[in-house]
Amino acid sequence: MDKMIKNATLSFNGKTIDLPIMQPTVGPEVIDIRKLYGQGDVFTYDPGFTSTAACDSAITYIDGDKGELLYRGYPIEQLAEKSHFLEVCYLLLYGELPDEGQMKDFEARVTNHTMVHEQMHYFFRGFRRDSHPMATMVGVVGAMSAFYHDSTDINDPWQREVAAIRMIAKLPTIAAMAYKYSLGQPFVYPKNSLDYPSNFLHMCFAVPCEDYVVDPILSKAMDRIMMLHADHEQNASTSTVRLAGSSGANPFACVAAGIACLWGPAHGGANQACLEMLREIGTVENIPDAIRRAKDKSDPFRLMGFGHRVYKNFDPRAKVMKESADEVLDLLGIHNNETLKVAKELERIALEDEYFVEKKLYPNVDFYSGIILEAMGFPTSMFTPIFAVSRTVGWISQWKEMIGDPTQKIGRPRQLYIGQTRRDYTDLAKR
Ligand code: ACO
Repeated sequence: MDKMIKNATLSFNGKTIDLPIMQPTVGPEVIDIRKLYGQGDVFTYDPGFTSTAACDSAITYIDGDKGELLYRGYPIEQLAEKSHFLEVCYLLLYGELPDEGQMKDFEARVTNHTMVHEQMHYFFRGFRRDSHPMATMVGVVGAMSAFYHDSTDINDPWQREVAAIRMIAKLPTIAAMAYKYSLGQPFVYPKNSLDYPSNFLHMCFAVPCEDYVVDPILSKAMDRIMMLHADHEQNASTSTVRLAGSSGANPFACVAAGIACLWGPAHGGANQACLEMLREIGTVENIPDAIRRAKDKSDPFRLMGFGHRVYKNFDPRAKVMKESADEVLDLLGIHNNETLKVAKELERIALEDEYFVEKKLYPNVDFYSGIILEAMGFPTSMFTPIFAVSRTVGWISQWKEMIGDPTQKIGRPRQLYIGQTRRDYTDLAKR
């Protein structure tokens, strides 16, 4: 398809420059400014990339106004209802839904890679027990490049494939180990007779001295959390993975960079921050004060779990997550928990409050995922690691897409320099 069929004209400083307009399959047209500096000697300015496309991608599409999320064209609601996480992984990685044979083969390949190198156990022991599991994960995932040398050559498609499978398979094991380590409990080895989400729950909650049977409803809820977080186009952590990868860094190092970025409270750290906020609010009577603070520009407090850079309508993932939250809480018989009461009331008030309605600040996926994870028995510190486990397939799919793109270049943003102009060095005695 010819992507360049029209031009935009930019006039400034007495110059006129024609800029091609690129056509997406769906979504806004994109003005190609690659030649702008060469022809016009100017940069564009867009901190936060609010209007800048940094790459082509055929993986995920979001329409923030409609509240739509598509993985390879398939709506997230349909996938959440009919698919499962490993099938979504296949879809994101290879572009199409698998047939039965392809699915079995993919499941077998992932399952055969769930154990980590035994020496990694010693690596974990170097961390303090009270380390945040995200801190441990950044370190351990980065260290995978030291343990799996045979899949770090990014120019070899087979090694890229093996690295992708290794990361999808081992991230749950690494996250569960980080959790077990923080508890002072023995690591639980993966159990290949279990499906992917059940295996993760087993590694987190089983202990060697008693049997642990995974509840299918909890396993389904975990599978959904994973599907809903699997990819989200060019978000901060994915862009970090792409930028790190653009220099030719190996995929394990790039995903470790993505995990570091995800940790921030404005991104993946929001689910932990949200639950902590709900607990801090404590009771329904304190909600009006929290709402007042969230609106006050002189107060840095924000309602965590509300708002999104792209969604200016209900986050479609939040709708599915809300249903899952109801199912899990019903199963576990949690109805009168104070945190839940605060969450429900906060949601009700924020959806009616003029400030939130006007700014289109709806509850996002993190608002509900934290409630489910807490009910399942996870401490808040594990919420973001679970997000990292789920997003690994998105990071690696986007990284593979970038490496396979012949037009890919090292990422190198420009700047609007506002510092000192050239000046001469002053000797210490004269300052
Ligand atoms: N509480 C109160 N006010 C808010 C909130 C909030 N959660 N979010 C945005 N606003 C206000 C801002 O103060 C701003 O007001 P103004 O126009 O009067 O200055 C307006 O809404 C727009 O907000 P921005 O920060 O400019 O929007 P941006 O797109 O940069 O930020 C973000 C999006 C970071 C998600 C923001 O909404 C936020 O901080 N939310 C809380 C954290 C959170 O839940 N993050 C999870 C994101 S989803 C994910 O990563 C899976």
